[in-house]
Amino acid sequence: MSNPNIEKNALFKLSYGMYVLTAEDEGKDNGCIINTCIQVAEDPTTVVIAVNKGGFTHDMIAKTKKFNVSVLDESTPMEVFEHFGFQSGKNVNKFESPVYGAKKSENGIYYLSEHINAYLSGYVTEMIDLGTHTLFIATVVKAQKLADTAGATYDFYSKNIKPAPSPKAKGWVCKICGYVYEGEELPADFICPWCKHPASDFEKLV
Ligand SMILES: Cc1cc2nc3c(=O)[nH]c(=O)nc-3n(C[C@H](O)[C@H](O)[C@H](O)COP(=O)(O)O)c2cc1C
Repeated sequence: MSNPNIEKNALFKLSYGMYVLTAEDEGKDNGCIINTCIQVAEDPTTVVIAVNKGGFTHDMIAKTKKFNVSVLDESTPMEVFEHFGFQSGKNVNKFESPVYGAKKSENGIYYLSEHINAYLSGYVTEMIDLGTHTLFIATVVKAQKLADTAGATYDFYSKNIKPAPSPKAKGWVCKICGYVYEGEELPADFICPWCKHPASDFEKLV
């Protein structure tokens, strides 16, 4: 439900990093893009991740309680966001062929070794239901730096990686991922098929 007191453009001023969140369950590997991972405590070293309940990675982590986070750097091409963020492991095997130097860490879960500067492995200690998302609170069991490159922030992704919509495109564009809905009116309950964000994150193309 949209709240007139909440300007979406104010929330876009928050800073985020960009990550590939990976999981493994009964031999099945999967991963998705998230921008919501922060360290929240030092001892024990604790991070939180917020994951949309509609995603397959969400269900895998809720079941297995473990995950890896690969920290994307500024060299990351759009294909990485498309591969992990615009399709679901419910329909495709994102690790069918070797992707972006994927390697398994000690917990049996893939992390990427290309376009990332670090990865960490988390073990979930608490799950909080936040409506659209689950907040997973996790103890970090491994963290390794892989490069000195600058991490890609959400702002960097928006300005330098995400392609601008074609000047010929008509309709509504998702401000998060660039998906274009072709149509005069965007349904109020529309959910972006690529990144799962709601209609309020779309703007009309003029
Ligand atoms: C730029 C970008 C940021 C995203 N941030 C998040 C996020 O913070 N949390 C989340 O659950 N999904 C996020 N997504 C959406 C998921 O990556 C997407 O829905 C993915 O297809 C889910 O795949 P899965 O079903 O295999 O888990 C983001 C996608 C993009 C492109």
